[in-house]
This record gives sequence, structure tokens and C-alpha cells, in this order.
Amino acid sequence: MPDKVKQFKYKSDQNQQSSRITIGNWELPAGIILAPMAGVTDSAYRRITRRFGSGLLYTECISAEGVRRMGAGSLSMARFHPDERPIALQLFGSAPQQFRDAAAIIAARFEPDMIDINCGCPVRKMVRKNSGGYLMQYPDLIGRIVEATREGSGLPVSVKLRRGYKSPDETAPLAAQAAEETGAALVAIHGRYVRNPADSADWDVIGRVKSAVKKIPVVGNGDVTSILDVDRMMRQTGCDRVMIGRAALGNPWIFRAPSDVEGGIIFPPPPTPREIIDILLEHYRLMMNIFPEPRAVRRMRKHFGWYTRGLKGSTKLRAQAMKIENFTEVMELLMDARRYV
Ligand SMILES: Cc1cc2nc3c(=O)[nH]c(=O)nc-3n(C[C@H](O)[C@H](O)[C@H](O)COP(=O)(O)O)c2cc1C
Repeated sequence: MPDKVKQFKYKSDQNQQSSRITIGNWELPAGIILAPMAGVTDSAYRRITRRFGSGLLYTECISAEGVRRMGAGSLSMARFHPDERPIALQLFGSAPQQFRDAAAIIAARFEPDMIDINCGCPVRKMVRKNSGGYLMQYPDLIGRIVEATREGSGLPVSVKLRRGYKSPDETAPLAAQAAEETGAALVAIHGRYVRNPADSADWDVIGRVKSAVKKIPVVGNGDVTSILDVDRMMRQTGCDRVMIGRAALGNPWIFRAPSDVEGGIIFPPPPTPREIIDILLEHYRLMMNIFPEPRAVRRMRKHFGWYTRGLKGSTKLRAQAMKIENFTEVMELLMDARRYV
């Protein structure tokens, strides 16, 4: 049964469903934002979450150098479906000129609604090449990259920041300011340091970033696991939207909006096991549209694990799915499971 939670009645001006923000010539959608996640948030999953109400979407991070060299892999990651608009295409790289060139190609070939600069990825391979989270050490460089990307593409540009590179050096407010001054349209902030991943996300830094910028919207991110957390983060930090990553794995239902009722809000009921299986199948179908069958089926294995967590008989089901290489067999397995869940 849906829960009625009186203490979480939203006021209309605080509700993220209602705050209107314009970026370029489009409106920042209401709704929780799906965080960019490499290997997860491809076009198939983005479309699934959009169906449930996710707000602005981001691509996975794409190499600016790969785009600049017209690498087929990088360019194919930049493709998206019209249903995904508005969408920000995320680039990682190290130098303004590299971003300028890549942004020009991206704008001409794909016309996304925004280009996002990845300033947070902690993966060693990326940081060693002065990309991703490395940039958090140099707010001025982030500003110059924003400017170059804007000039190269003519599109709105956003940045996705972390709290800083290494504790206690909190550079996010300065980086957000530098980005705004050089023309960024939006800033997202994940409240963790690049080099201190075991710490929990600090939400207060989101409030400090919000105070540091003059007028651009701020998206808060880090350790949000429920719609109640979304509300808590917005109240605690004053951020304009909330972005969710890991809590969305196998759970596109998290993007459904609660309904306002007299005296409180109503949460949608959790999905039934059959609904879970139906969406999982739909996710397979969308994945098959973008990748060749064996690759699509392999890529879906992790999603299979996430979707089926907690379902009756899921351990056996997962073990079977991990061995399957083609879609027909997956479908048979799931249609069979659907009869018993
Ligand atoms: C598997 C995975 C891949 C990620 N890939 C990216 C990425 O490509 N670009 C990016 O900016 N952040 C990436 N992130 C970070 C998320 O966008 C997000 O900031 C982080 O997970 C914190 O949010 P959460 O606590 O809601 O998960 C990734 C996170 C995960 C778990």
C-alpha cells in the first residue's frame, strides 16, 4: 500500500516539480536527475528512466580526445534518441583546446542540449592523464575549459564537480564560481573528495556551492537513496535539483514523482515482481537496438542482477542468466519466471 507521509508535505515553491529554470532555449525538466554512470547510463537505460520521470539526462563520460580524433567508439557513445532530450553530453579531457575541438564536432554532429565537463572521475587512468577529478585541483583551468567548450560548441555548458581533489582542500565553491564566470549554465556537485572515496558525501558543501554562485542552478548529488533523501537534500542545501546514481541501479521506479494530496504526499507503490520483469525485458529490447546481440546480452547481465535483487528465486535466476548469450533464451527464462513470481 502507498505510504502517506504527512510530515513531508512539499510547499509548491520548494517542490522540485515546480521550480522553473531555463537554460539556453529549453527548460530544465522537473524530476530527479539520473547521474552519469560509465557502463550503465547508455541510451537504453536513459530511456527507461525517462519513462518514469527522470529529469535532465547525461550521457556516460566520453573522451574529448576520442571525439577529436573521430574515434568510432567515442562517437557512438554520443548518440541519443530524441526522447532523451533535454540531454547533456559529458566529456572528459585535460586541456581547453581539446575540449574546444571536441565540442565543435559534438555540436555539429549530435546537437545535444548541453555539454557537461567531467571534473570528478577518480579512476586512476583518467586522473594520471590530468582529466576527470584531477581538474578539481585547478578551478581556473575548469573555467578556461568551460569557456573553450562554449566557444567551440555554441551550446550551454555545465560542470560536474566533486567537493575537492583531496581532503581538506575544498575547491568546489571556487570551481563553481570560475565556471559561472566563464559562462557555465549549471553546476552539479557530488559531495565527496576525489581521493577520499570511502568518506560519505558531505551535503553542506552543496549549500556552499549554492551560495558561491550568483544565479546558475545547482544540482546536489551523493548518497541519496530515496525520495525522502531528495527532499532532505533540497531543504538542507537549497539546491535546485537532485541527482541520483547508485540508488537508480535496477530501480528506475525511483524517478516516479510522489503525488500531492491534502495534508501530505502519496508515494507510488513499489513495483510488483511482474512489473520488474516486464521493465527488465523492455530494457533488453532497447539495449538490442543499440548493440549487437551478444554484446547487448552481456551488457545486460549486471542490470539483470540489480533488477532481480530480492525477487523470489533470484539467486538461481541470476546464475542461469549469467550463462545465456542470446536474447531468445533470456526471454524464455524471464517469461517462465514471470509465471511464478
Ligand atoms: C558505476 C559508476 C559509474 C560512474 N561514471 C561516472 C561518469 O561517467 N561521469 C561522472 O561524472 N560520474 C560518474 N559516476 C559518479 C556518479 O555520477 C555520482 O556522482 C556518484 O555515484 C555519487 O552519486 P550516488 O551516491 O547517488 O551514487 C559514476 C558512478 C558509478 C557508481
